[in-house]
Amino acid sequence: MSIVVLISGRGSNLQALLDASIPVSAVFSNSAQAQGLAIAARRGIPAFAVPHRDFASREDFERKLAAEIDRYAPRLVVLAGFMRVLTAWFVHRYAGRLVNIHPSLLPCFPGLDTHARALAAGVKLHGCTVHFVTADVDHGPIVVQAAIPVRAADTAEQLAARVLRQEHRVFPQAVKWFLEDRLVNHAGVISVKGGDAQLVFDDS
Ligand code: GRF
Repeated sequence: MSIVVLISGRGSNLQALLDASIPVSAVFSNSAQAQGLAIAARRGIPAFAVPHRDFASREDFERKLAAEIDRYAPRLVVLAGFMRVLTAWFVHRYAGRLVNIHPSLLPCFPGLDTHARALAAGVKLHGCTVHFVTADVDHGPIVVQAAIPVRAADTAEQLAARVLRQEHRVFPQAVKWFLEDRLVNHAGVISVKGGDAQLVFDDS
């Protein structure tokens, strides 16, 4: 059972997956500077940079990345803080076996700077979403969400830190469901066989 994880930076979600004993075969980053590569290497997991800047086009980068990924014949490809927008070609290649974690309650706040945007919008509930990836960025079928209250005094950093704790909780759970073949997609709506809760609410 092979899982490949793609990262771009810190790698705390990768760490959470490894701490939850998710069987990661390889980690790739689009940046050689990603600290997450060292997290994988320390655990003896093959970890490589495929720097997007080395390629003339997005397509060339993705073709090389896909060739590297496919050496591991992964059942699932996990985007754990992978900060490159992927083309429809790449997304279709891994259709139904490509998941992402996004730091907002989708479909609110796709894209970047989600925590500052949540504060600016005055929402009282914020969180994160694990979803299947489609060609429409940050819009694929939702596997699980974690929600937290927004407090009046929150800064974007404080909010980000509380959301990140929930990311580390729900991402391994979503991957486990996938590996256990428990995710069912009915017209873009995901349910979990066995009825496990697909919403975590954390008020702490
Ligand atoms: C996380 O907040 C994730 O939701 C977003 O990028 C961040 C990555 O953090 N897509 P890390 O590299 O996993 O620590």
